[in-house]
Amino acid sequence: MKKYTKIKDLSHLTETIKEAILLKMNPFEYSDLGKNKTLVMLFFNASLRTRLSTEKAAKNLGMEVMVVNVNEAWQLEFGDGTIMNGNTSEHIKEAAQVISQYADIIAVRAFPGLTDKQTDASEVVLNSFVKYATVPIVNMESATAHPLQALADAITISELTEKKRPKVVLSWAPHPKALPQAVANSFVEMMQHPEVDLTITHPKGYALNPEITKGVSINYNQEDALKGADFVYVKNWSSYNNYGKILSQDPNWMMTQAKLGEAKFMHCLPVRRNVVVEDAVLDSKNSVVIAQANNRTFAAQMVLKQILEGL
Ligand code: CP
Repeated sequence: MKKYTKIKDLSHLTETIKEAILLKMNPFEYSDLGKNKTLVMLFFNASLRTRLSTEKAAKNLGMEVMVVNVNEAWQLEFGDGTIMNGNTSEHIKEAAQVISQYADIIAVRAFPGLTDKQTDASEVVLNSFVKYATVPIVNMESATAHPLQALADAITISELTEKKRPKVVLSWAPHPKALPQAVANSFVEMMQHPEVDLTITHPKGYALNPEITKGVSINYNQEDALKGADFVYVKNWSSYNNYGKILSQDPNWMMTQAKLGEAKFMHCLPVRRNVVVEDAVLDSKNSVVIAQANNRTFAAQMVLKQILEGL
């Protein structure tokens, strides 16, 4: 694999998921693969799980890891032909090539601004690294996608499902801040699979990018959508059509034990208790959020392994 910026970069998804589950039993099986190789992780935004799980994955493969909080480095310019007499000190053209000399793989986290849909859709930060770096790039959550999270979610469902074709519901939930659509986008892309029966439920005005949800069942009635669900993935996202706006904070959309029933509860974390989901759900045996977070390591390890094999 030459890069992992989107789910479609994985050519053998089903096999990758199966191998990730096996890898959990023997995480150091490929500890020589990354010997004398370095992963540089660049964070333009905060992280707990992605940072620790990706570092752990790299170390399980024998790699060295360097982490940069980008706001502590020189401010980068991404514009082509910009007269750099403002706040930016270094152009991505130099920065990406320089970092490539220290790294065998570069991983990048860069969230959207949520003010301009076109700018966010162009994935300027991630795509600039793809363009100017000379080593493979891994997406640790970009403006529109979180493919490492989606791979961990697919591993979790595959491990826990008792059915050949489980019903999976992605349910919008309220949140006080405007959040990206990235996690929801990648989850929907990952679940568009013949072995999954996917439904999305959200209030009117919260439709995701129609190119991503094409062909997926959408139900504005949460209670109706949740009937017969095996897995319920709860996530807030801001409006896509009314870009980046909060249109509703209706607490009736919060996930409760009564609504969840016997379904497994999923969330990428971090999660706001008693806003997105009530305590009773997170504290119940049906919550699989800790297992999901654990699978972030093995998702990242499979991605790094496949890139290392191609170097
Ligand atoms: N789920 C997730 O990406 O967590 P972090 O933001 O803590 O990395």
